Amino acid sequence: MTVKSGKSDKDFSIYFQPPSYKDAKKRGKEDIEVLYDFNIPVEMKEFGQGKRYMIRTYGCQMNEHDTETMKGLLEQLGYTSTEDKQEADVILLNTCAIRENAEDKVFGELGHLKHLKIEKPHLVLGVCGCMSQEEGVVKRILQKHGHVDLIFGTHNIHRLPALLHDAYLSKEMVVEVWSKEGDIIENLPKKREGMRAWVNIMYGCDKFCTYCIVPYTRGKERSRRPQDVLAEVRDLARQGFKEVTLLGQNVNAYGKDFEDLTYGFGDLMDDIRKIDVPRIRFTTSHPRDFDDRLIEVLAHKGNLMEHIHLPVQSGSSEVLKKMSRKYTRERYLELVGKIKAAIPDVVLSTDIIVGFPGETDEQFEDTLSLVKEVQYDFAYSFIYSPREGTPAAAMEDNVPMEVKKERLQRLNDAIATYGKEGNEKLRGQIVEVLVESESKRNSEVLSGRTRTNKLVHFTGPKELIGSFAHVLVTEPQTWLVKGELVEKPLQISI
Ligand code: SAH
Ligand code: SF4
Ligand code: F3S
Repeated sequence: MTVKSGKSDKDFSIYFQPPSYKDAKKRGKEDIEVLYDFNIPVEMKEFGQGKRYMIRTYGCQMNEHDTETMKGLLEQLGYTSTEDKQEADVILLNTCAIRENAEDKVFGELGHLKHLKIEKPHLVLGVCGCMSQEEGVVKRILQKHGHVDLIFGTHNIHRLPALLHDAYLSKEMVVEVWSKEGDIIENLPKKREGMRAWVNIMYGCDKFCTYCIVPYTRGKERSRRPQDVLAEVRDLARQGFKEVTLLGQNVNAYGKDFEDLTYGFGDLMDDIRKIDVPRIRFTTSHPRDFDDRLIEVLAHKGNLMEHIHLPVQSGSSEVLKKMSRKYTRERYLELVGKIKAAIPDVVLSTDIIVGFPGETDEQFEDTLSLVKEVQYDFAYSFIYSPREGTPAAAMEDNVPMEVKKERLQRLNDAIATYGKEGNEKLRGQIVEVLVESESKRNSEVLSGRTRTNKLVHFTGPKELIGSFAHVLVTEPQTWLVKGELVEKPLQISI
């Protein structure tokens, strides 16, 4: 097939490997291959010498972490990083497809970069991440953004050196997006910065919630082998990282794809808690697969933090059914009850979608009442955004945008109320804070997080960044708590 872009006469036929939702939907029984033999080809080792790269990252932690891998790869090629577009020889946009506004931002940026590309024809401009796994997006880039040099998908990250090489040498747009179910490539380099590290424990998602694009953009659910995850966490401990966050779209499904081993997320957490990293977090949990074994392990606390992000999406069982979330309001509340009983000081947060196709006033009220019942300390709320190719996009949606916006406002007001109440409970208590940085607004103020992931601001010396401090909470607010640095506390709370 020959594909030509609207405004350029580039011929894309040589490299064109478009994404296919049909292939992306496949969930075959083939064994997942784990590859340990990744290497940068010798002839590529000096390829980036004297050149600069810049990566813009959109979307979730999964994408942030993929960016760390791409940085690692580029630096092994000899590239150095820059934050200045003008200086960059390679610019990559690591994109997110979760909602329409995420995509709009990327198309806006591509428009701006067109001018830079005209000024600097040798600049290599690449689009990667979840948007490049979408059929419609790749077509649109081909037709309207002929100045893009390279498109590659989430399964092709390890191919970055070879693809860059091709992009430099060819006049054609290089497009390589595999829709395959996915292998696991183990030993890719990663450029980590700071004191907190992300570790993938699994890739992909098999849940196919009817509104969600992720199962198409990230492929089949596949877990890394426990020994590989544990070795990586041990190595991070040796390097002195203070916090490790385990990543997966549905971490509770960890291990379900192992055919030779019965080992789930609870078992993994039980092994990880014995490793000497001060703080372990994980995201994201799916209520359906959250089991008693995990609750029992989390109740040991220690280096397992008492914060659980437990997306509910809706408080109405009818809507949950249409979303194909595979739990009811009652089951969710039962799970919350069990978690709170086992870990009384747990902090829960969530994700909620308002205005799902056909959502009635009563169904929305069910969401509000659930929020009240659970008393989340924080929550991310979204207006439903139709994603082409997903089942919900074809459902009749009779809820006007005005109504959706009103519902979002009411929901956000409720979330803020409980957020403030949750923080108020900390007044007068001493909390342990991992100090992350100076606050964005005031360099005198330090910013960090409690075990329960609450943002804390306090005045203190810069030298504390990267270490733990104890802070007396004096001024709880809605989304952060302010406090004062204290010396050795007698008793520390969360
Ligand atoms: N794997 C995670 C979430 C991934 S996406 C989970 O299952 O919880 C993060 C959040 O984006 C979701 O929890 C959901 O609330 C929201 N989201 C996903 N698709 C959406 C869509 N089409 N419109 C609006 N919000 C969406
Ligand atoms: Fe999307 Fe559902 Fe998978 Fe989360 S569990 S990534 S919302 S399909
Ligand atoms: Fe976005 Fe992809 Fe993450 S769609 S939310 S970057 S998995």
